[in-house]
Amino acid sequence: MSILICPVCREKLGISGKTYVCPKNHSFDIAKSGYVNLLLSKQAGKTVHGDNKLMVQARRDFLEKGYYSPLRDAICEKIKDGVILDAGCGEGYYTAGISDKLGNSEIYGIDISKTAVEFAGKRKKNITLATASVFHIPVADSSCDTLVTVFSPYCSDEFQRVLKKGGTMIMAIPSEMHLWELKQAVYDTPYKNEVKPYALEGFGLSGKRRITYKFLLDNQQDIQSLFSMTPYYYRTGQQQQERLSALESLETTADFELLIYRKI
Ligand SMILES: C[S@@+](CC[C@H](N)C(=O)[O-])C[C@H]1O[C@@H](n2cnc3c(N)ncnc32)[C@H](O)[C@@H]1O
Ligand SMILES: [Zn+2]
Repeated sequence: MSILICPVCREKLGISGKTYVCPKNHSFDIAKSGYVNLLLSKQAGKTVHGDNKLMVQARRDFLEKGYYSPLRDAICEKIKDGVILDAGCGEGYYTAGISDKLGNSEIYGIDISKTAVEFAGKRKKNITLATASVFHIPVADSSCDTLVTVFSPYCSDEFQRVLKKGGTMIMAIPSEMHLWELKQAVYDTPYKNEVKPYALEGFGLSGKRRITYKFLLDNQQDIQSLFSMTPYYYRTGQQQQERLSALESLETTADFELLIYRKI
């Protein structure tokens, strides 16, 4: 039985052929690439629909080369069997890693970007995928053992609602020095990332690990892919773009915080 609920009336969704249907007959077709659109237009926000194709493709190209595999491994080390939701799953790199490790778990991935879940669907893993917002998650109350959030928006109320009591939230965020040399190469006065206080309402912090290492990008394409998947991409003028284009290689720092919370 799926944990998905109807975004219109919030009753449980059942599956009939290639369509999800609720008891009130609201129905949602499963697309060819395997995801279901559970995002109502009023929930989508006025302009932002998450990552566009360029960003999703860049993320896919970059992540597939394994530059962030230490983070994926660390997440997989912490995760246990059960009902798992990757909230803001993007093109599914971490979700797929979880699926490889925990083949018998019930794994869900949601993202507001249709392109991202389409890409995730192409991975052909045992993952139920939906377009949806983390601010209106189409899953039942207290239905998840684990919620994973990797560099994605945080919604305190929804994350607390969908997790079971005692459930786990695994969160990855960039730490202070993340991509420092990339920022140095592009900006005159780069700033360190601000790391917010760890305390979160409704959760107790039960574990914390900082993952820091250097990695070498030895070609322009990987440098551009990395840059296009960061928020800096859209805040960069021509001069900075030229500095980036002139780089033949770049060694930079990966600096992540992996935070494990328990729902109180
Ligand atoms: C930095 S990416 C991280 C994606 C993935 N977790 C990863 O690390 O590869 C942030 C993701 O959040 C998604 N996103 C942005 N706003 C969202 C929202 N309100 N609800 C769900 N996803 C959202 C974007 O489409 C994008 O895929
Ligand atoms: Zn309904």
